[in-house]
Amino acid sequence: MSKSNNFNDENSNTSENPTFDSVLEQRLINRRRFLGMSLSGAAALGGMGLGLVGCSSGEILPPPVSPSTTPSGSPVPSPTPTATPPVAVNPIMASLGFTAVGKSLLDKVVIPAGYSYQVIYALGDPLTASTPAYKNDGSDSDYENRAGDHHDGMEYFGLDAAGKPSSSGIERGLLAMNHEATTDEKGSSFFLHANGGTGALPRPAAEVDKEVAIHGLSVVEVKASNKKWATVPSSAFNRRVTPLTEVEMSGPARGSALLKTKYSTTGTKTRGTINNCGTGKTPWGTYLSGEENWSGYFFRVAADDTNRNNDKSVTSLKRYGRKAGDPSRHGWETAGSDDQYARWNISKIGGSADGSDDYRNEMNGQGYIIEMDAYDKTKPLKKRSALGRFAHESAAFGLPVAGKPLTVYLGDDSRNEYMYKFVSKALWVAADANPADRMATGDKYLNEGTLYVAKFNADGSGQWIELSMSNAAIAGFATYSFADLADICVNTRLAGDAVGATKMDRPEWGGVNPVTGEYYQTLTNNSNRRIDPASSSQLTPDSANPRYYEDNDGNKGKGNPNGHILRMKEGAAVGSFVWDVYLFGAEADADKAMVNLSNLTDDQDFSSPDGLAFSQNTGICWIQTDDGAYTDVSNCMMLAAIAGKVGDGAAKTLSYTKADTSVMNVVTQVGAKPAADKLKRFLVGPKDCEITGLCETPDGKAIFINIQHPGEGTKMADVADPTKYTSQWPSNAGYGAGKRPRSATIVITKDDGGRIGS
Ligand code: FEO
Ligand code: CA
Ligand code: CA
Repeated sequence: MSKSNNFNDENSNTSENPTFDSVLEQRLINRRRFLGMSLSGAAALGGMGLGLVGCSSGEILPPPVSPSTTPSGSPVPSPTPTATPPVAVNPIMASLGFTAVGKSLLDKVVIPAGYSYQVIYALGDPLTASTPAYKNDGSDSDYENRAGDHHDGMEYFGLDAAGKPSSSGIERGLLAMNHEATTDEKGSSFFLHANGGTGALPRPAAEVDKEVAIHGLSVVEVKASNKKWATVPSSAFNRRVTPLTEVEMSGPARGSALLKTKYSTTGTKTRGTINNCGTGKTPWGTYLSGEENWSGYFFRVAADDTNRNNDKSVTSLKRYGRKAGDPSRHGWETAGSDDQYARWNISKIGGSADGSDDYRNEMNGQGYIIEMDAYDKTKPLKKRSALGRFAHESAAFGLPVAGKPLTVYLGDDSRNEYMYKFVSKALWVAADANPADRMATGDKYLNEGTLYVAKFNADGSGQWIELSMSNAAIAGFATYSFADLADICVNTRLAGDAVGATKMDRPEWGGVNPVTGEYYQTLTNNSNRRIDPASSSQLTPDSANPRYYEDNDGNKGKGNPNGHILRMKEGAAVGSFVWDVYLFGAEADADKAMVNLSNLTDDQDFSSPDGLAFSQNTGICWIQTDDGAYTDVSNCMMLAAIAGKVGDGAAKTLSYTKADTSVMNVVTQVGAKPAADKLKRFLVGPKDCEITGLCETPDGKAIFINIQHPGEGTKMADVADPTKYTSQWPSNAGYGAGKRPRSATIVITKDDGGRIGS
């Protein structure tokens, strides 16, 4: 996400439910939890094939194998899989082999000795053979056939030599990725426009058309030849999905009155996907994308609350950060009367009772996990409403077990928001890893199930609370009158409020440890923690979000400016889990008693963890930052970790003194401090970027990373003067025309041909 405007740092949770009950004044619990749990971590499993290990007593399946379609997309009968899943032959790594890189403020990508990187796919790069090369001077157009902006979450889909889908394809594949947003000032995506654009309302349609088109998703074929990777601009797989692409609504909200618009009077379709951040890859081989900060793109007039008779839709709009009269991020609604612009004005202006003659319900069509078959552009995308509606990040699957439901872990990235999980109604069938119709398989597992929200207890336990009409707290919620399950799927945050879920420090991405099945969740930071809250939006620290401190140098904020990474393990009892904090972000020289609780060294310290993904090959937990609190010392970075397991550390009490001199004790659960060979900085990016998106070839020998918004601190007024750009990456790395900074995908390989991280 971009830090340059407040559309990405929303805080609309003013619900009464406390951040934590009964956390305070607890006596010190100084004992190891989870007695009987082995303290050995991944290392003990180092020699075992990934497909053979797991924490469950059930059968652990190998990863998906070779879904088959023709390149043009028509399904063909699935052959018996023959390829050995690569993860079954490569051992999970027990330690990290590379030399850590130092923190860096250079305008370049820094990686360890013995590794190389290439830029392969930047903003504007052609996706067809006939699309002209990107000039990068603001004159380019036709972004429907070019890479979008702000590359974010990304997944790899292998191809065999003949161009057929293959989960073991290591030299040819598809990258599917999110294009989250664009570097903007005064609403204008100034690097896209020759003179920086208008920056005033009304916005010219020619500028808006470009800005809309650089959002959404892209699929691009990539290929390695003599160890050099490149995109294949002529590939028939290449595609763009934009905010104007027609998509299907699915799950409980499909056809709901809440989704009826002038565009879809039946509430079964909407247009496009926007502000896509984290991703997921399903066990059946499709791409999932989370719609994150979509709320800011819409506008409603100042009188809209009154025009809506202050009905429950107003409660919903406010809870999702859309106040009447607030400006939209880009002012797209001002570009003309054409329907494609009018849709961004979500004011009630029609005379209909159900909203079928205007766009009052249009925003209810955004905020979902959307599924795409990256291999098949003929299949419509589907929004999976059963997984709830909020500022979605990643969608991380628990390890699939035959005969058991599938689990998907989800986070809502705004300050004080919640963590969720979806459990499918359908039980996993191994043959579905290789289905004839991947999107139909998505229908099977993602349209029906149960959505839960997390509540954390101080003793290291927690509960998943069901969000359904059978929960009396939801059915009888005074703040908002839920009509049905569809209403819960659309207004999921309000359902979380009703049941008293735990308010978190901005849940970003998560990943499931392929060795243990435990779920890891980044909590990027929160400027709203206080020991003495001054408003209802400020929270006291609690066990799962236990720190309050000021930036180490006193100049980068207070609250929890560096963030932490929480992890959880499902419990034996239905709906129960245990948790601890895997790592606390901190500056290495910060106070080890209250701030640098994980004892991070100079080779390990980081701030604002955001992207997180486990390698299915090496088992490495990759941690990526999107930071504004340590950027005086280092640009954003990526670290490699060999993770342990929940309960490998100890409980700790943090004592805070309140203004009235009373002492507030917060008990938290601190994971084992990471050894030098278990957590190392692997990469630092160029200036003013965030590091995001991670996927790999199935052999673990190439990883793909996204460098998002380098140079985003550049001023719009300086667009014509490259010497004033805060970054000139990737042109200063020899990639592409022009000096305007561009978001881009890089591929990293090891010079000796080994696995990344070894
Ligand atoms: Fe797009 Fe919350 O990161
Ligand atoms: Ca992010
Ligand atoms: Ca600092």
